[in-house]
Amino acid sequence: MDMKEKIAQIHQLVDNELAQVDSMQALDALRVKVLGKKGELTALLRGMGQLSPEERPQAGQLINEAREALTAQLDARQAKIKARDRQKALMSETIDVTQPVPAPLLGSEHPLTLALNEVVDCFTGMGFEVVEGPEVELDHFNFELLNIPQNHPARDAQDTFYIDDNIVLRTHTSPMQARTMLSRKPPIRIICPGRVYRADEVDATHSPVFHQLEGLVIDEDVTMADLRGTLNAFAERLYGKGITTRFRPSFFPFTEPSAEVDLTCVACHGKGCRVCKGTGWIEVLGCGMVNPKVLEMCGIDSTRYSGFAFGIGLERIAMQRYKVPDMRLLYEGDVRFLSQFK
Ligand code: DAH
Repeated sequence: MDMKEKIAQIHQLVDNELAQVDSMQALDALRVKVLGKKGELTALLRGMGQLSPEERPQAGQLINEAREALTAQLDARQAKIKARDRQKALMSETIDVTQPVPAPLLGSEHPLTLALNEVVDCFTGMGFEVVEGPEVELDHFNFELLNIPQNHPARDAQDTFYIDDNIVLRTHTSPMQARTMLSRKPPIRIICPGRVYRADEVDATHSPVFHQLEGLVIDEDVTMADLRGTLNAFAERLYGKGITTRFRPSFFPFTEPSAEVDLTCVACHGKGCRVCKGTGWIEVLGCGMVNPKVLEMCGIDSTRYSGFAFGIGLERIAMQRYKVPDMRLLYEGDVRFLSQFK
């Protein structure tokens, strides 16, 4: 058989097999079978040694032409298969942009944050400025300047987290009264919200970490009537018309006179119910006229200036506002509870 016939046979073989080829693997296999090291056409090349020197150039040329033609033929098919596979992949990966998707899970503001924002709005609306202070506080500000001397029961290690002899976790937001008076001149009208710490056991109404909002007003001729009016306005803004305050005499070392303040029970509007234990009132804050001793220690002339201060327990407000029966719910981070405040 001469070279031309052998080559024609290989062309025939490729034509036949290509008719069956339907994948890249099958095509690669055919390529190896014909053009590979042990392939049919390569075998012809090897066999050239048996030809006479005169026949070799022409045979070589025929084989090379065949190699080029076959390579082109296989490449063309390869391109077709690739294009088809790509099309298939694109079809299978198509995204239906009109299909409805599940709504992403959105968070919500914590009830304490909601309550804080409302309380802050009430006071900023009356011209108060919001300031913040350190939670790790010097004994000097937390106690000393607030007229809570050494050996005062409020310093008892049972209540106070001591870091060392001079540093505590603040037990109230009141140290910001001292810090503010020392750094500003009257008129002063600030509120200071924040976290406070006391070594309390956790139960339905206690937590070692809770929140307060301190208020301080210092100016000439500030009286207890201003304090009462401010807190009445606050009560009404927060809870609506008909909610007012009741002052009961009390004692705080940094105010004189001092009072505990109750608000009309929001649940029964003063009639008496389980929430207010039948009294019609709920205790929410402590307050008083800033003790002249404190004014003087903080560099304010007590013969010219007077002022009032108050400290609101934020948890109380939030629990009442949102009818939360147990303080622990506020700290557990349970999504089933928190998602109700969306
Ligand atoms: N600091 C007090 C407490 O933690 C609350 C308080 C009472 C703050 C009277 C005041 C105040 O500013 O005048 O219980």
